Amino acid sequence: MTTSFSETLRNATWADHESAESESYLSELMAGRLSEHEYGEMIAQHYFAYLALDGVSRELAAHPVAGRFVFPELYRERALERDLATVYGAGWRDRIAPSKSTRTLVARIHQVADWPGGYIAHHYTRYLGDLSGGQFIRMELQKIYGYAKGGGVDFYIFDELGSLPRFKTEYRSRLDELELDEREEQRIIREVKLAYQLNTEVLAELLHVVKAAA
Ligand code: HEM
Repeated sequence: MTTSFSETLRNATWADHESAESESYLSELMAGRLSEHEYGEMIAQHYFAYLALDGVSRELAAHPVAGRFVFPELYRERALERDLATVYGAGWRDRIAPSKSTRTLVARIHQVADWPGGYIAHHYTRYLGDLSGGQFIRMELQKIYGYAKGGGVDFYIFDELGSLPRFKTEYRSRLDELELDEREEQRIIREVKLAYQLNTEVLAELLHVVKAAA
């Protein structure tokens, strides 16, 4: 029996997932040891990454290959704006700036935007994560900070998608329908590993938050 590409991809990158998941910032956040403003530092960084990812998605909507992964229901810009306004108040825009690691991630998203496999790699790493472990993170954050729908953790709420398991199954079948030779499969796997690394570095750069909380 042959393994599907979505399974191969997941298996080949699960160790990279483990490194992302075990970043100290996330464990401190999940343990309820960070203030709301310290939580805000992460969503501020996400905001810049999603401005890039959503912007590239809009440009690729009509692309025959990449366009299969463009779902406006996934766009996170507005939800993150509500979350940032809830955490920091009306003046949130003046408080936030992309970190060095976020600028590197954003540059890479733009750099590979003309390669469907590269776009899909970054798309998969963020959105499938938000739809998976992100849902666990959301429930914890709601318990810790008492956020309700409308601002705080809207970034993790995907009501417009309907059933998340069903959507993830559809997403994986779109990955499986890609016409890829072995070389291109490996190239996408390498880009997903890089995407994990760049996202992990964004979290690692938030270490000053963790240190301040210690
Ligand atoms: C507290 C942190 C995290 C937890 C507890 C967590 C947990 C999980 C779990 C349980 C799954 C499997 C869900 C399923 O099979 O349906 C998953 C999938 C995934 N996560 Fe995470 N995660 C975390 C952080 C992250 C981060 C930081 C990223 C990306 C930078 C990420 C990206 C992904 C991706 C892409 C998948 C889909 C893998 C696949 O099925 O192909 N996760 N996560």
